Amino acid sequence: MEKLAATLPKAELHLHIEGTFEPELIFSIAERNKIKVPFASVEALKAAYEFQDLQSFLDLYYAGMNVLKTEQDFHDLAAAYFEKAHVQNVVHAEIFFDPQAHTARGIPFDVVIEGLSKAAEESKQKYGITSKLIMCFLRDQSAQSAMETLDSALKYGDRIVAVGLDSAEVGNPPSKFKDVFDKARANGWLTVAHAGEEGPPEYVWEAIKLLKVSRIDHGIRSLEDPELTRHIVEEQMPLTVCPLSNVRLKVFSHLKQHNLKRMLELGVRATINSDDPAYFGGYVGDNFQAAQSALDLNQDELERLARNSFHASFLSDGERNTYLSMVDDAVKHWQNLRKHDLCQHE
Ligand code: HPA
Ligand code: ZN
Repeated sequence: MEKLAATLPKAELHLHIEGTFEPELIFSIAERNKIKVPFASVEALKAAYEFQDLQSFLDLYYAGMNVLKTEQDFHDLAAAYFEKAHVQNVVHAEIFFDPQAHTARGIPFDVVIEGLSKAAEESKQKYGITSKLIMCFLRDQSAQSAMETLDSALKYGDRIVAVGLDSAEVGNPPSKFKDVFDKARANGWLTVAHAGEEGPPEYVWEAIKLLKVSRIDHGIRSLEDPELTRHIVEEQMPLTVCPLSNVRLKVFSHLKQHNLKRMLELGVRATINSDDPAYFGGYVGDNFQAAQSALDLNQDELERLARNSFHASFLSDGERNTYLSMVDDAVKHWQNLRKHDLCQHE
């Protein structure tokens, strides 16, 4: 089963590019930009990755990204992610970025998007990975700041596929951003939102009804509300679940307590993602492996998680079908290997 989890082709749909910033790369880019990191060493920085909740993580996440200044920096950040994702059989990635966290530091929007786009183009050539960008608004900042960010991004049109909502959830409900999301949709962008990570099921309802999202990011607390759960199953509203993140941010005390398996049993269109892999101990393949072993996911469940990732993606039907047949092929290949192994042991 572990081998199947590793070899299945996957789409990653919940990945903050700034959350892929590995400590070694933080230090090397800081040195290049002549910035002093307030930690003595890579080890000292890693030792600080002990989070109590979402906010304690966000404090370090925003501190880390402060060393990103140039187009080359954003390129190098994304190139490092694509390399790791490729090794773990990610074939398609829909990547969040947080423009306000950079423009507030005087880094122009263009620098961010050009650097990320160049790495995406190279990775398509090098590994065949397809990708899309999702621009997130920081929900703990004002709706006006989000609207200004939206306006400055309009000229990028189809370089961005969707807008999203991240950062500190509790006290910042989706309803705060209804007008911003209305305008984003009017300009042809799709919408997603983090909801039900630390916040209540009502926030998931708001994201669906007011922001008209195509996916819910996290959404784990949805299961507290039976009517919401029924709605999510009926509509096949995807949830982009991040198992290792949920444990590191203490949403669940242990992976064995995670409700991912329950979601699959209920027919929820759940997917597995890595969120901020440099901070939470693993990329998407690591999340598959950890969830498989803690929750004893079977072959059918692993296959479903991989297929769900493509169904929930913003790919065209043609691209989706190509990837879904790659999943079929990987399963057949795994079954053949297994038969072969069993014969040898007879
Ligand atoms: N939740 C909210 N905001 C975030 C996260 C997350 O898991 N990661 C990066 N920004
Ligand atoms: Zn997230």
